[in-house]
Amino acid sequence: MSEKIPKILVFDFGAQYAQLIARRVREANVYSEIVSHELSVDQVQEIDPSGIILSGGPKSVRIDGAPIIDPRIYELNIPILGICYGAQLIAQQLGGTVSQFDAGEYGRTTLNVIGGELLAGQPKEQDVWMSHFDCVTEVPEGFTVTASTQHAPAAAFESNRVHAVQYHPEVSHTEYGQKTIERWLDISGISRTWTMTSVIDEQISAIRQQVGTGRAICGLSGGVDSAVAAALVHKAIGSQLTCVFVDTGLMRKNEGEQVVETFQKTQGIELIHVRAEEEFFSKLKGITEPETKRKAIGELFIRIFERASGGIEDAHFLVQGTLYPDIIESGSKHAATIKSHHNVGGLPEDMEFELVEPLRSLFKDEVRAVGKELGLPDEIVYRQPFPGPGLGVRIIGEVTPDKVAILQEADFIVRDELEKAGLDREIWQSFAVLPDIRSVGVMGDERTYGYPCIIRAVTSEDAMTADWARIPYDVLESMSSRIINEVAGINRVVYDITSKPPGTIEWE
Ligand code: XMP
Repeated sequence: MSEKIPKILVFDFGAQYAQLIARRVREANVYSEIVSHELSVDQVQEIDPSGIILSGGPKSVRIDGAPIIDPRIYELNIPILGICYGAQLIAQQLGGTVSQFDAGEYGRTTLNVIGGELLAGQPKEQDVWMSHFDCVTEVPEGFTVTASTQHAPAAAFESNRVHAVQYHPEVSHTEYGQKTIERWLDISGISRTWTMTSVIDEQISAIRQQVGTGRAICGLSGGVDSAVAAALVHKAIGSQLTCVFVDTGLMRKNEGEQVVETFQKTQGIELIHVRAEEEFFSKLKGITEPETKRKAIGELFIRIFERASGGIEDAHFLVQGTLYPDIIESGSKHAATIKSHHNVGGLPEDMEFELVEPLRSLFKDEVRAVGKELGLPDEIVYRQPFPGPGLGVRIIGEVTPDKVAILQEADFIVRDELEKAGLDREIWQSFAVLPDIRSVGVMGDERTYGYPCIIRAVTSEDAMTADWARIPYDVLESMSSRIINEVAGINRVVYDITSKPPGTIEWE
């Protein structure tokens, strides 16, 4: 067996922080995973982590039933870093005192460094990000206070193997936050060797071991997750992988061709390209209700995928682009609980395949980095999220080939202009929507009666909430004039300035 890969466990106390902490540790080149704070000492011993981070959380350690860790974990001699709630928990569980102090601290706060191992070499005065109403007023025996703030007398404290900070080193507003995390890894003797190359090597051997001489199939959607999963599996098992690409006709301009070009021609992957546009258009004839439309597209997709993959003899493995955020239920009792998740347009549960999920431990930005390392083009690696039903939910009302052609052109211009303005990577999703109405206009001396086109562009972190993007007027103007001049059938352009909530990102 290869030597042990250092792993940091981030104990989750029910807030959003755990994911961010795990990402920061990974940025410092150490693999980290989020686990439930309820993990027992035996489970921890079995996992054998190189270090443990206790994350922040929304509760007060002083209330009954506040989440704690198995106290025997402190006796394992594993390096521990407590952050915010985690720092207070260390104080509380090891015999210090946590009180509600004279005032809470929220946001930017000045930290005064006194000394100690963790903050060695850092400026005596620095900005940190705080969010607490309780604070540690007495550190446990054997600990020394290493920093303070106006309202937190023990803003950092440490003993031999346990370090604690009241502030949030994981947020970018904390000036020396990443340095502090890296320093903790270094003083804990944890080697920082985890890179995307090591992920690729590790996954290649895991895939080979799982699949053996078997045959695997992978549904390509055109999106980054299935693309990177396919490229990685192909690197591992070569021609034992067959990809299936169902072209629904509802993709963006040139996207279908690009999938074929990238996978078949450039990567040399065996690809079954199913041109199913006509089947989709005939199925969608007359359907106007959004959910009926979604269902129709989903069902037909599965039927066609089954038909295509059924022809691949002895295929026992199905590759899926499941990511780490898909499987962690942040704040749940059992963080390792797996959500059933299907990236390929929702494949049915009863397909008798064993799943191969080489990206299941990675965050989205890490998946992109793996994709780049595997030589996938930027257009795929940095592709925006795209709904499974594609342009079907961006054409309000009945979907017809003519409307798809109009929308593809307008949508292309929206993204092209954003790219030219250098704004494409700042924007979460940008696209055009074609509503089911027409309005009167005038072009030259002619009266026109055409479709309006709605531009939708949003900024977001995770699609749960979103804000409309503040695209400069001149960029909106170029989009508008190009769409009207270049896309026959559209005579008016409007910009959607609705955030989510109350709106959704998509129009249907
Ligand atoms: P909404 O419109 O709900 O979208 O704000 C949130 C995110 O989900 C994507 N989306 C979908 N993705 N199948 C998908 O695979 C769908 O039916 C679907 N509907 C919305 C949307 O593009 C956004 O990123």
